[in-house]
Amino acid sequence: MTQRGVLRDTYNRTIRDLRISITDRCNFRCTYCLPDTEEAANFYQSSKSPALKASAKKKIIHNWKPKSEILSFEEITRIVKVSSSLGVNKIRITGGEPLLRRGTESLISSISNLGIIEDLSLTSNGSKFPSLAKKLKEAGLTRITLSLDSLNHKNFRRITGFDGLDDIIESIQLAKALDLTPIKVNAVIIRGINDHEIESLADFAIRKKIIMRMIEFMPLDSGRTWQRSHVVPGQEILNRIKSKFSLSPLPAQSISETASRWAIGNSEAEIGIIAPVTNPFCGNCNRIRLTSDGKIRTCLFSLNEHDLKSTIRNGASDYQLASKIKEIVFKKEAGHQIGKTEFIQPKRSMSSIGG
Ligand code: 5AD
Ligand code: SF4
Repeated sequence: MTQRGVLRDTYNRTIRDLRISITDRCNFRCTYCLPDTEEAANFYQSSKSPALKASAKKKIIHNWKPKSEILSFEEITRIVKVSSSLGVNKIRITGGEPLLRRGTESLISSISNLGIIEDLSLTSNGSKFPSLAKKLKEAGLTRITLSLDSLNHKNFRRITGFDGLDDIIESIQLAKALDLTPIKVNAVIIRGINDHEIESLADFAIRKKIIMRMIEFMPLDSGRTWQRSHVVPGQEILNRIKSKFSLSPLPAQSISETASRWAIGNSEAEIGIIAPVTNPFCGNCNRIRLTSDGKIRTCLFSLNEHDLKSTIRNGASDYQLASKIKEIVFKKEAGHQIGKTEFIQPKRSMSSIGG
């Protein structure tokens, strides 16, 4: 027997959005997420800084989770089915880079075939998307979010460790041609790194008729070098765009929306400002996350995780699984503590939580 009902936490927030990381691996090494070297982790310092030794250029070894620890697509589909019986209607597949996992389209197809998820999206860095786009669309993907932090080849490479600007641009075109819309494109804005590109990214949004979302840098980098001074506050990003383009506010589509949304110029494009650091939106959060190794995280910044993999692998029924998910949601934190002295950065970086 399956359970019906809603996932409500102790703060009376109703959970509708489940984000599923299907791999912790990534072929990019974004400085703000998974830097490749100590030097990249300390990207805000000069490479000549005496604080950085010669060893700073040595590659950091990443310990990816072994396959046996990773949930199978069948296990993930089952979690989606059970969660949907509890009111989850929005699924986002993320990574790492989800398209590095073989057969992602078959997972999309299994989830889509359940016939109960209203919004099935995927976050990708765009490097593998062009060769898989058609299959993903046919499998039932409804839309896509891509990452684009710079329009300059050299800066793109500096930020992501990968020469992927052309792939992303091709991915945006393809997503449009396949009607994987609305296309959202994420840019993490970091002071001194890409904040000089804010206006050109806004202009790019207009030209491509996309939703460009400028995101404040959060302390979720594996290098653990985040500092408040790197964050360009959302209001500052907005003021910069307003001084060059005409913006008009768009109404929120739901109370749990993370972005303040703006129509730009007379175009079909949209700017979203996501300011989790300076303007937290935890009070209306409707999200939980599932890691590739089967842990539920009730907040991006959770210090505790809840194991679902052992529940499944120990033979739990759908009813027991649903009860476990309900119990976990009840432990959802009020919000994050960024900026407070008690803030502790979680052990996992964004690369194994999923954006
Ligand atoms: N701060 C803010 N956003 C981040 N992302 C990854 N790391 C960070 C961070 N430290 C976002 C990127 C990417 C998505 C998966 O997560 O925008 O598109
Ligand atoms: Fe960059 Fe995304 Fe890979 Fe992190 S997971 S390194 S943000 S592409």
